Amino acid sequence: MKRPLIAGNWKMNLNRTQAITLAASVAQEAVHWPTVHVALCPPAVYLDVVGQVLRNSPVALGGQNAHWETAGAYTGELSPSMLVDVGCVFVILGHSERRQYFGETDEVVNRKVKAALEAGLRPIVCLGETLQQREADQTQQVIRTQFEGSLADLSLDEIRQVVLAYEPVWAIGTGKVATPQQAEEVHALLRQLLQQRYNEATARAVIIQYGGSVKPENAAELLSQPNVDGALVGGASLKAQDFMRIVAAAHAAVEDA
Ligand code: PGA
Repeated sequence: MKRPLIAGNWKMNLNRTQAITLAASVAQEAVHWPTVHVALCPPAVYLDVVGQVLRNSPVALGGQNAHWETAGAYTGELSPSMLVDVGCVFVILGHSERRQYFGETDEVVNRKVKAALEAGLRPIVCLGETLQQREADQTQQVIRTQFEGSLADLSLDEIRQVVLAYEPVWAIGTGKVATPQQAEEVHALLRQLLQQRYNEATARAVIIQYGGSVKPENAAELLSQPNVDGALVGGASLKAQDFMRIVAAAHAAVEDA
């Protein structure tokens, strides 16, 4: 099994002191789990200070969003190079909350992915179906469409820098986690799409995370699925102890593989 990636998506939570404290705890604990790649994605205003806390630790920093332009008159936005400037390695793009509340389409996500790669960031690109789409048996089609659109025109070298995050919308923040079989099915489809467009080795190399109500209690089973290479964790990443239990589960999955 490749080195799993467990990323904490703090969303619009915590204040500055809480962000520093949480980052420090994760940085301190992460040294015990070198088999796992750990990343934290704090709110943009805390990126700089959290980046300082994580410096000299094995924990990587990530943004939650970025613009597709390098600079200019885009009030309120952040460019990928600004994220790099404060120490980001990753950036979450196309999260369902951005698609739902801020109208981000696959085309917009694709522009952002290209800009992020251009700046040297590794985009964590989120895909996933709504409950309505799942119930209408459209999951596979939705995933295919998002894959084609959000990841259009990426070279082989570029796709290897991309992390995919399968996040069924109905599982995000709801406590309703996908069953390991439901997750594995979509992860296997993504692997197949990568293989069809690129090649077998590339398909195997790309990290595909699962996200949506990942908790210490369900992480082990999800992470033991053959095509689940990590987790994008929202709610449970806000408590160091819960988050580190998920990191520990990822370590155990590596050991068992
Ligand atoms: P959740 O969020 O773990 O709180 O469901 C996951 C995400 O949106 O990345």
